[in-house]
Amino acid sequence: MLKFDHGLCMRGALGARGLSESLLQAVRFAMQDGEHRLREERDRGGLAWMELPYRRPDEILKYVQAVEPRFDNVVVLGIGGSALGTIALSTALRPQYADLLPREARGGHPRLFVVDNADPDQICALFANLNLSRTLVNVISKSGSTAETMAAYMVARGLVEKTLGRGHVRDHFVFTTGPDGGALRDIGRRESIKLFDIPNGVGGRFSVLSPVGLLPLALAGVDVEPLLAGARDLDSTVSGRPVMDNPAYLFATIQFLMDTHFGRNICVMMPYSARLRDVSDWFRQLWAESLGKALDREGKTVHIGQTPVKSLGTTDQHSQVQLYSEGPDDKVVTFLRVEHFDRDVTLPNIHAEYESVSYLRGRRLSELMDAELMGTAWALARRGRPSMTFTLPKVDAYHVGQLIYVLEVSAAVAGELYNINAFDQPGVELGKEAAYALMGRGGYEEMGREIREYLSAHGGAEDDSETARSSEELTE
Ligand code: PA5
Repeated sequence: MLKFDHGLCMRGALGARGLSESLLQAVRFAMQDGEHRLREERDRGGLAWMELPYRRPDEILKYVQAVEPRFDNVVVLGIGGSALGTIALSTALRPQYADLLPREARGGHPRLFVVDNADPDQICALFANLNLSRTLVNVISKSGSTAETMAAYMVARGLVEKTLGRGHVRDHFVFTTGPDGGALRDIGRRESIKLFDIPNGVGGRFSVLSPVGLLPLALAGVDVEPLLAGARDLDSTVSGRPVMDNPAYLFATIQFLMDTHFGRNICVMMPYSARLRDVSDWFRQLWAESLGKALDREGKTVHIGQTPVKSLGTTDQHSQVQLYSEGPDDKVVTFLRVEHFDRDVTLPNIHAEYESVSYLRGRRLSELMDAELMGTAWALARRGRPSMTFTLPKVDAYHVGQLIYVLEVSAAVAGELYNINAFDQPGVELGKEAAYALMGRGGYEEMGREIREYLSAHGGAEDDSETARSSEELTE
């Protein structure tokens, strides 16, 4: 099982700026209340993401089996919660540099590309390099209307229509969308494009174990069953455990206390594994969107939420750790440690003549990774800086499934402790609507006028004629 260690957050290790047992005990009742509320909500069916590990992926596996031989490339078009989980698990669970390998070396599976931006340079470069007749495009949008995703879909569809013919659209697209999937659901239905459903009540950042993540990952050869099994096993472990002995509750509580009692409002996730580096990116969204809120449940203005930061060991020891250990004492570091790497290298017996190098002879790279992690944790603690560690026995689907699930539950528990709704994202929605308004979507005219007036009054925008001229230049 996944292990969790928080010893280096405690007073014994850190002195006065560490957590005392009594402080932890003091929030035990809040934790228990939070646990109770979450359990009731789950029993009412209000936390659909918690049930995802229990859904059989049969429809996905059947579809993958049927289409996989026809495609060399799978392109995901999605953003935020509709992309980050897939990126994280693809980096963790597919062979390293998989897309550089020939098909046989990839186990016969297609390559996987995720486009999570509207950047024309990125989109043009990708499609210019793909053989469209061997490419499947998975458009993922819960709302079915996010501007960036729909724009990328229009580009991809335009190219398929032009290159292969309109009649081929159906064979080269698959949609994953929510129950109110707007235009995307409608297009899928009208044109008989295969549709996968995001279950009701599953928000973007909690959706990686739904078809949002499972479909592209399965298409690219990831065995999704152990991923779900890991999440299920973690669920039964944390559900039954007392809160003080429960990694999800402890992680959430420690972050909460570090923020509210010690002013450590930055939480750094630092995997010591290149394969887990994008898990930090996924976690960044989970923590930021779930907990960064203006109002509490009673409608009181609170403006709370830690700022999550992604980091990578050992790389960022040579870039960020100086700041973490000597800059402001406003951070909590969470290390992700791997017990057994899939491969290892024993360093050759060369350069005995250099004292500064020869000590490495005969040691393994995995030992160096571990020594660097332990050294960093110790160095931070010596300066009174807290850290916690999740240890994965291996980077495999089963343990990564556990990690994903424990962090999702932690975000929900932290929402209870902060007394906010961890499952909405009004700030994201406002930005989305502003983009609709500025791009001229019907129904948003008033908002568009208001934004333009505001920005031009405060120096935030060019006037309209200037914008029109520069876009003409780009078109040419
Ligand atoms: O977590 C969220 O809700 C957001 O990040 C969304 O996932 C993101 O905005 C994309 O939305 P959609 O899936 O509706 O296109």
